[in-house]
Amino acid sequence: MENKRGQWGSNLGFLMAAIGSAVGLGNLWGFPYKMGANGGFAFLLIYLMLVAFCGIIIMSIEMSLGRKTGKSPVLAFAQIGKQYKFIGWMGVLSAFVILSFYSTIGGYVIKYMVDFILNIFGNNSFKGVGGAEYFASVFSNPVTSITYHILFMVITIGIVMGGVNKGIENFNKIAMPSLLVMLLVVIVRSVTLPGSVDGIKFMFSFSGAEFNFFKAVRAAGGQMLFSLSLGMGCLITYGSYLSKKENIVKNAFIIPIADTVFALMAGFAILPAVFAKGLDPASGPSLLFQTLHEVFNSMGYIGLILGFIFYMLALFAALTSSVSLLEVACAHFIDTRLEMGKSGNRRMVTAIVGTAVIIFGIPVALDALGSSGMYQPLGLCWLDFYDFLSEGIMMPLAAVFMSLLMGWKIGLGYMENEITLEGNKFIGKSFFAICIKYITPLLMSFVLISLALSFFNR
Ligand code: PHE
Repeated sequence: MENKRGQWGSNLGFLMAAIGSAVGLGNLWGFPYKMGANGGFAFLLIYLMLVAFCGIIIMSIEMSLGRKTGKSPVLAFAQIGKQYKFIGWMGVLSAFVILSFYSTIGGYVIKYMVDFILNIFGNNSFKGVGGAEYFASVFSNPVTSITYHILFMVITIGIVMGGVNKGIENFNKIAMPSLLVMLLVVIVRSVTLPGSVDGIKFMFSFSGAEFNFFKAVRAAGGQMLFSLSLGMGCLITYGSYLSKKENIVKNAFIIPIADTVFALMAGFAILPAVFAKGLDPASGPSLLFQTLHEVFNSMGYIGLILGFIFYMLALFAALTSSVSLLEVACAHFIDTRLEMGKSGNRRMVTAIVGTAVIIFGIPVALDALGSSGMYQPLGLCWLDFYDFLSEGIMMPLAAVFMSLLMGWKIGLGYMENEITLEGNKFIGKSFFAICIKYITPLLMSFVLISLALSFFNR
């Protein structure tokens, strides 16, 4: 049992875990569609600009704060000043809330994976059922939804209980390379289907008539925060386990690049196949479960195998993200215990926090994506409501606060001291200085306001 604070075994282990956290369901169901629907190549450029002006900056702030204090978000901000603790709390809360909806979706992924195996071995449950109908039978069954939600959480809890090095790092070191291989297999089949080129056209083409610059910035901004796991203390927590000799700014470049490459690859895996089968792309759960199921189902036996590989890949992507979410929430309590002179007791903390997430996630699992007739908070389905609280409000708000705090209050020197330890260079320091004070908080404020409002105009 791990009773002290953990540490990564190597920088590669850290990178795998951080990229694992970034690459998740957001890359599969969000990025390719958003790119296609918001100006194609133009969206990609806007996204990359936002990554440069905000993503890398916030990521470096989080990593230096985490590594300098050696603490999880709440205690890290407390070291700067008691009045800033709330930023850390928003992070812990975001992690908790995101995981509470993420795990229902992760549960559906397991269910599909299992069903594809069963169909490979001759169970004919897919025969003659359309993707929409099949998906409805899954999500509107409360027993199925809750069982798989719990199963997904139990696996996540199991990995986090193993600790930073033996649990999270070791899992990511297996899951991430496997994910890459599986993704390549699906891409090869997808882009070689007749008619697949329409999917690539959808993803990259720009139509001036439909393009709305502000909408594209909003979509790219929200996607960036969620996909890079920013503004919720994940990189504060993961950074706190990082050795002092590693180069923070270099890591803050590598993680977004890898995440964007995975997102584009996900696009190549998904969209060509969807278009080759003459289906309409969409985002969110309907793309992942309804449309893609239809795609695989129409490919005969090989489609079953491909479908199994795809859902296994989605499961790995989801788990490497969910462990980071649970770790953020747990690290807070482990650190607080250590601070009080007690043992960290990772196992107990993980069991309690994980169970709380299971309970908090039940409304999402029961809500059948809004079709259950249950009470809908703020008129949103439960999944959207939780997403609104985290991705729509707390994450962008924390991102604004973090850059303002570091730019105006603490000063870049704080980060510089940490970044330049052991002879490391602060690459792009003057660029950071301008972004952190002006550009990052401004852009993130725009994203915050427009994103929060967008939840109510869907
Ligand atoms: N980045 C993950 C994804 O794209 C989700 C996530 C958000 C994970 C925040 C951790 C923290 O699916």
